Amino acid sequence: MDFNEHSLKATLAGNKLGEPLYYLPVTESTNHDALRLAENGAAEGAMVIADAQTGGRGRLKRTWISPAGSNIYVSLVLRPDIEAVCAAPLTIMAGVAVAETLSSICQQRIQLKWPNDVLLNQRKVAGILTEMKTMGRKVQFVVLGIGINVNMSREAFEPPLDQIATSLFIEEGVTYSRCEITANLCRNIGEWYDTFLREGINPIRERWLSQTQLLDKTIETIWGDDRYRGRVTGMDETGALVMLTDEGEERRIIAGDTILMKD
Ligand code: BTN
Repeated sequence: MDFNEHSLKATLAGNKLGEPLYYLPVTESTNHDALRLAENGAAEGAMVIADAQTGGRGRLKRTWISPAGSNIYVSLVLRPDIEAVCAAPLTIMAGVAVAETLSSICQQRIQLKWPNDVLLNQRKVAGILTEMKTMGRKVQFVVLGIGINVNMSREAFEPPLDQIATSLFIEEGVTYSRCEITANLCRNIGEWYDTFLREGINPIRERWLSQTQLLDKTIETIWGDDRYRGRVTGMDETGALVMLTDEGEERRIIAGDTILMKD
């Protein structure tokens, strides 16, 4: 199926998230566009989706490789009526929705790595960049930016990315409809978002923990100059990863990267 404004609107018709939809053949960053739209009053559900990005952004100031014709680059505006300190689970929620979307089309197991990596065969197939504006203690809006490597070939990843990233096509040998994946993604995010607003983090945390390989495993966490090694014991009610360090101390990880160690 073609990937353009017409086909996206047809596939997303009736979806709460994805309306209004702004399709761009190329843009710097869909997160950038969605932040600007939200700043100008865009309603919850507004979505920016592009065929290519010239300045795709990842977490921790990384670049998100965004060539034309192969992947999904999408950003959604949410306006939850919550305090800013309660917003971190939205990234976890988005990870669960992406994992559910990809699990329904992949033969192989999709796994989640804290905080925002979606893995296929131990390589990153999707990532989430959550950005937020607050007013006082409340969230004014959140932009959920999601990149999914769909039909990208191995050759399109330059070293060292080819060792750590992958696409659905590389792992499954199938070319997928980006339109259909986007529509399923919006439906799943919509459902998990409603669950979060109704029931809080608990059902999301439960699903996340059932889909991660980190639980009970030894990891190293890195945030600036801080490094901790220990065993993952769970996730707390704020979405922080909980670990028991080698020194026997319980630590809550709220930022940075996690690396799975060989036990
Ligand atoms: C990460 O894993 O570091 C997050 C990657 C997020 C990439 C997506 S692509 C759509 C949206 N626009 C951006 O510039 N970034 C996010």
